[in-house]
Amino acid sequence: MAVTVRTIRALGLAILLTVTALAAPARAVELGDAKAGEQLFRVCKACHRVGNGAENAVGPHLNRIFGRVAGSIEGFRYSEGLVRAGADGLVWDADNLDIYLENPKNLVSKTRMNFAGMPDPADRSHVLAYLRAFSDKPSNIPEAAPTATATDHNLDPAILAIVGDPDYGEYLSGECLTCHQKSGANEGIPSITGWPKADFVVAMHAYKKELRPHPVMRMIAGRLSDEEIAGLAAYFEGLD
Ligand code: HEC
Ligand code: HEC
Repeated sequence: MAVTVRTIRALGLAILLTVTALAAPARAVELGDAKAGEQLFRVCKACHRVGNGAENAVGPHLNRIFGRVAGSIEGFRYSEGLVRAGADGLVWDADNLDIYLENPKNLVSKTRMNFAGMPDPADRSHVLAYLRAFSDKPSNIPEAAPTATATDHNLDPAILAIVGDPDYGEYLSGECLTCHQKSGANEGIPSITGWPKADFVVAMHAYKKELRPHPVMRMIAGRLSDEEIAGLAAYFEGLD
């Protein structure tokens, strides 16, 4: 009897170990080919320098970008949003760089990086491999979050197309207005009034999908349905 129980336990453990091994954190974003990345980096070069002696230009220099806190280069004038993301704990790794390069607004609504994004995941992986060569030793570079999902971060167009009901948004906004100011004042907590709806929706879904680090906003957005987010976007867009 005891043997049977032990056998069953052992079997259970074996199954558990197998499952754990299968679910072992895989790096979600693979780095591509640095040579191809060098070519692709030409579009970034309009604003960024990397390599020996690189200085800030329209954008900050990108040496040691892997492992760097977002918005942290002294003397560069960043958007408030990028500085806030850094203060919330955003450290650049392959995953969040991939998310930012796909569409900078995923991470920072009013980012000063005036770049529509690089839609092809392969292109992004090449650029990241290129930038990786100007960063520290692999042991110093934070790995991608184990829970990160595959590379499709962009919001489903069907979600963006939902027409929100501003009255419903107003009804839901009470909770938001305990922190965000209806007047649009921006004192520590960012203003969310008068935004284009699409930016608002992208921001809320970025918290919902846990692409953005802020824990409270993740929790709040996580509870909202796509329709509720659309309603809030419609309501806040109309406030000045
Ligand atoms: C039109 C100019 C422009 C282009 C093109 C551009 N960027 Fe940027 N980039 C910026 C600016 C400006 C910032 C600062 C953004 C902010 O403060 O919100 C920035 C920020 C960044 C950051 C964050 C840096 C930090 O210190 O936190 C990374 C990473 C980055 N860019 C990578 C790229 C890559 C890779 C490309 C090409 C695929 C690219 N950028 C294209 C202007 C540009
Ligand atoms: C407990 C306070 C609190 C509440 C309640 C709250 N927020 Fe936020 N919200 C914040 C903070 C703090 C930030 C900045 C987070 C960050 O750094 O990413 C933020 C960020 C945001 C942003 C992105 C702003 C930007 O500049 O990118 C949006 C959009 C937003 N909140 C919408 C909402 C909505 C809609 C609600 C109600 C459903 C809500 N918030 C409720 C504190 C709050």
